[in-house]
Amino acid sequence: MAVEINDRAALQKDENGPMPDLVFRVWCLVFGGALPLTTVCISAKNIHNRQRQSTPKHQTPYTKHYLCGMKKYSYPTPDTFTRTRSGELFETAKTYFPGGVHSPVRAFKSVQGPPIFFEKGVGSHIYDVDGQAFVDFCCSWGPLILGHCPPTVVDRVQQAVAEGMSFGTPTPFDNQIGKLVLDNHRYIDMIRFVSSGTEAVMSAIRLARGVTKRNKIIKFEGCYHGHVDALLVKAGSGLVTFGISTSAGIPESFAKETIVVPLADPEALAAAMKEYAGDVAAIIVEPIPANNGLLLQDRSFLQLLRRQADEHGCMLIFDEVISGFRVGFEGAAGHYNIQPDIITFGKIIGGGMPVGAYAASRTIMEHVAPVGPVYQAGTLSANPVAMAAGIATLTELLQPGFYEALETKTKGFTQRLQSFCDHKGYEMTFPSIGSIFWPTFSNQRMMRSDDIDGAKMELFKKMHLECLKRGVYFGPSGYEVGFVSAAHTQADLNFAASMMEESLDLVFVV
Ligand SMILES: Cc1ncc(COP(=O)(O)O)c(C=O)c1O
Repeated sequence: MAVEINDRAALQKDENGPMPDLVFRVWCLVFGGALPLTTVCISAKNIHNRQRQSTPKHQTPYTKHYLCGMKKYSYPTPDTFTRTRSGELFETAKTYFPGGVHSPVRAFKSVQGPPIFFEKGVGSHIYDVDGQAFVDFCCSWGPLILGHCPPTVVDRVQQAVAEGMSFGTPTPFDNQIGKLVLDNHRYIDMIRFVSSGTEAVMSAIRLARGVTKRNKIIKFEGCYHGHVDALLVKAGSGLVTFGISTSAGIPESFAKETIVVPLADPEALAAAMKEYAGDVAAIIVEPIPANNGLLLQDRSFLQLLRRQADEHGCMLIFDEVISGFRVGFEGAAGHYNIQPDIITFGKIIGGGMPVGAYAASRTIMEHVAPVGPVYQAGTLSANPVAMAAGIATLTELLQPGFYEALETKTKGFTQRLQSFCDHKGYEMTFPSIGSIFWPTFSNQRMMRSDDIDGAKMELFKKMHLECLKRGVYFGPSGYEVGFVSAAHTQADLNFAASMMEESLDLVFVV
């Protein structure tokens, strides 16, 4: 049975101290009786209140006022869940945009039903156009480590917007974010900001090629690096193969510059390095592979990459678009204590705005124009509004105990689910690192993409739908990981775990 939202709100109230919003109390007194018991009301909640609080207070109920009335949101239940309005919007969107979306996974092709259109996010929750509330574990695919609309970030962004949205010149924000990142990250000396993770990776590869004067790239099957032409490739058959393009529109000659090897396979890597040694500009890896499930590698494998790169005079690129600032301020480099040559960032570094970056030692970065010959530019690079969001977000991450608290919460959540599955005999595990976790329908540790049984994605599909019906939102694919944010309260996680357990009972029903 779904937890009643009013019960939940009461729980949260106890946890978080008295309800702070006097206006809300008065409002409740006046209108509360008219609402169904299980209604959560959300408001832009007093921007004034938000700006004063460094800790988001999304946990308490909110009121949301529109000019022409009030909109209320409730958790769905299996009986009430609807996608009526979302479905209508999607039909219209399909007439405007290919597949109705601007990024393929958003089309919900791997799960059931049309995509849900969201119109608001506060803290750990997102709210859809059909008036439903969901605990969000997608968190915009990772950037929202503080949850939705953290007051300190919103505040700084609002100030920045008011000062000017873009100048196409250096701004004081540049130095602020530069200092913030570089003073607190021991693995990089200089950084260049761009506008997406893809752009960061594309630029990092150009830099590696420019420095080494070689062309080939080694990538790993199951790692995703954005839609960079040369990296949108998969392995052919055989231990060490040239990439085969996974998209139309990529010349074979580009794909041939990429050699694809399996993860967690030292022999395959050694063979690739031996065969192409003098031509390889870089080995690129997601040190915490989190785009094809969560294929956690042994540290020894990542150390091997470092050694191979050194031995063969090529660069080691850590693509930390997901792991950067997620598993610690120094990301995977810090977590494993491995020095890559170049690191790419995205997602968290922009605090929810479109930002990417690549960074390296001073010697390497000074190959980038205008100092060096490797050209790379961007009209909106280091956009002041985006930098303000990044600065505000990264500042919060540096608070003592931030990552420890997030990891503890995540572990508690996954351990509860693991115990439930073990007790019920459900074949499922929840690997996690920091605040990243992956609900996977297997009892085996998975380290390579071919460890994943594609047929099991049918189970994820069922779980996804049942969770949606109960107010829990996961990214719409079983290959995607989940993220816990600082805004997820213990009550949120308890609620989500109960709803997942209820869903899994249906998934595994014989
Ligand atoms: C590891 C990694 N690299 C690169 C990218 C591409 O980033 P973007 O989608 O911002 O272009 C992603 C996106 O998810 C990613 O996870």
